[in-house]
Amino acid sequence: MIRNQDAFHTSVLLQKAVDGLNVKPGRKYIDATLGGGGHTEEILKRGGIVLGIDIDQDAVDYVREKFKVQSSLPRRQAGKFKVNKDLFIAQGNFADLKNIAKKYNFDLVAGILFDLGMSSYQIDKSTRGFSFLRDESLDMRMDKSEDITAEYIINHKPKEYLYEIFTKFSEELDSGSIAEAIVSARALKPIKTTQDLVRIIMSAKKRVGQQHEATKVFQALRIAVNDELENLLQGLEDAYQLLQEGGRLVVISFHSLEDRRVKLQGREKGWHLITKKPIIADYQEILKNPRSRSAKMRIFEKV
Ligand SMILES: C[S@@+](CC[C@H](N)C(=O)[O-])C[C@H]1O[C@@H](n2cnc3c(N)ncnc32)[C@H](O)[C@@H]1O
Repeated sequence: MIRNQDAFHTSVLLQKAVDGLNVKPGRKYIDATLGGGGHTEEILKRGGIVLGIDIDQDAVDYVREKFKVQSSLPRRQAGKFKVNKDLFIAQGNFADLKNIAKKYNFDLVAGILFDLGMSSYQIDKSTRGFSFLRDESLDMRMDKSEDITAEYIINHKPKEYLYEIFTKFSEELDSGSIAEAIVSARALKPIKTTQDLVRIIMSAKKRVGQQHEATKVFQALRIAVNDELENLLQGLEDAYQLLQEGGRLVVISFHSLEDRRVKLQGREKGWHLITKKPIIADYQEILKNPRSRSAKMRIFEKV
C-alpha cells in the first residue's frame, strides 16, 4: 500500500480544475477519475460532498485508506463506520456513471470532473506494463478483473486489427511495418513482455525527433485494452444527464483523440463552453510535474 500522495500521483491543474467546478459548500460533486484523490481532497476542502469513482481497485483502496473511509456505502447506510462523512468511494467504470451515481444518491449534481489517462502509480508502480521504459508483463488493464490484456491483443489479433488500432488510436505512421513485424515475431515465439514488444517496434521503425519509438504503439494498445474512447463518450453522455442546470463539467485530457471527442460532444449537446481555449499547465507546473505538459482542460456548463 502506497501512503504518500505524491508517490501515487501529483494532480494536474489542481486549483484551476476545482475552480472550474465552482464548488459551493454542501453541494454534490463527482470525481469520475479518483486516482490518488488529489482533486477530491481539494473539493472536500472547499466544502463539497464527493462521490469518487475509479476503475482501478488499487486507487480505490489507496484513497479509502488515505481518507479513512471505512465504508463506501451512502451515509444513511454506513452508520458509525463512516469516518469521512462527505466522501463516498466506488470502484467502477465511468462508462457506467449514471448507475453508480444513482446507487449513491448522486443523481443530480453540481459538478463532474474527468481527469483522464493514467495515474503515476499505474505507470511507475503497478507492474502492469503501461511503460515502455520498464520490463513487465504486457497487461495494461486498468481494471484487473477484465479478460483482455495487451498480451492477448499482440499475440492473437489479426495484423489488420493491429494496423487499425495503431493508426486510429495513436496516428502511428509506421503502423503497417510494426504490425508486420509483430506478426512475424509471434510466429516464432509468444511476445510476453514490454521489452519484447519494444525490441520488435524498434526493428520496424526509425526514431523521429525526441519521441521514443514505442510511445505511440503503447498509447494505442492501452486505449484498445481499456476501451478508453468508447468509455469516454458514454461517460460524457451520462455526465450530461446527471448534472443540474448550471452544473459544471471539467475535463482534463492528455491527447488529441480525447480532446477532440470532448470538444465534439460539448458542441453536440449544446453545453455552454466556459473556456474558449483549453487551459494548459504553466511553466512552473510543467517544471515540477513534467506529466502536466500535455494536459488540456475544458470547462462546460449545462444550460
Ligand atoms: C490521471 S488519474 C486521476 C488523478 C486524480 N485526479 C488525482 O488528483 O489524483 C486517472 C485515473 O482515472 C482512472 N480511470 C481511467 N479510466 C477510467 C474509467 N473508464 N472509469 C473510471 N476510472 C478510470 C485511472 O484508473 C486513474 O486512476
